[in-house]
Amino acid sequence: MGLRFKYNIVLLLACIIGIGAAAGLSYRFVQDSAVDEIEDSIRLLRANALAVRSYTLTNIDPLLSDDNDILFLPETVTSFAARSVFANVQEHFPEFSYKEAALDPTNPADLPTPLEKDLIDQFRADPSLEQLSTVVDREDGRFLTVAFPLTIYQEGCLRCHSTPEAAPPAMVDLYGPDHGFGWELGETVGAQIISAPMSIADKRALETGIILIVGLAGVFLLVFVLTNLMLGRIVLRPVRRMSEVAEKVSMGDFSVEEYKKPGRDEISSLSVSFNRMRRSLERAMSMIDV
Ligand code: HEC
Repeated sequence: MGLRFKYNIVLLLACIIGIGAAAGLSYRFVQDSAVDEIEDSIRLLRANALAVRSYTLTNIDPLLSDDNDILFLPETVTSFAARSVFANVQEHFPEFSYKEAALDPTNPADLPTPLEKDLIDQFRADPSLEQLSTVVDREDGRFLTVAFPLTIYQEGCLRCHSTPEAAPPAMVDLYGPDHGFGWELGETVGAQIISAPMSIADKRALETGIILIVGLAGVFLLVFVLTNLMLGRIVLRPVRRMSEVAEKVSMGDFSVEEYKKPGRDEISSLSVSFNRMRRSLERAMSMIDV
């Protein structure tokens, strides 16, 4: 196995390990930071939903709540307003979704999935939790789902969610008396659940990984070409020449021309020492011959 071969094997191994580790690390890092960005946009959407809720409660509900006794208008309901506004947002961002899931919801569409129920249970068990994030694998791809607790803080909520008797009769007619009641002040009854596609994070991590791999491969190729050129010029070619001369001298052929590698490096001084040794040997041999 020649020196060049051994050197190139080591270089190739270092290149594969280096590129693999760098690509893996960058993939993780870029994906993590893209996930942070997705979480930020989810928090923005949540803030928007909360704003719609509070606007409905303070500006719309007082205007129409009297009519609710005759004909219940879901448009006056905070949750309905937040969901409807989000439906408009979804026209521009169809992969995003918003849900106000409750353990015992007024509207059956708000029933939690097993995963959502688990998140609500975690909020109920630990009131200090402000947010829970999880990545969900669905048929249509991977999604980042972030949940925020929905807690009853205002007395006004109980007007419709305490008992069917206290609620506007028209609302009970529309939604029935069995669900969405019995909620208490301070109780976490559900969660706002917002999902966004992870494809943005995955795509960005993949693109950065590819750029890094191509860049590092280019650098390694340059190192490969330059070091191989240097190895040939500085070490291999002179060593080969010296070994040819040594071979002939060892067979008693002193007619072969001396080789002195130009320069001041180790191989040059080896060639000088070798020539000196060869001359001493030649002299010794001629003394024996006499
Ligand atoms: C005027 C009556 C009314 C008031 C006041 C009201 N809600 Fe509701 N709430 C409803 C109705 C009706 C629904 C079902 C709306 C729909 O069709 O999506 C609902 C839905 C919800 C939901 C979604 C889960 C479910 O039950 O379907 C949550 C969470 C919720 N309300 C919380 C609150 C909170 C918190 C307040 C106080 C800030 C509040 N509600 C005030 C009537 C009311």
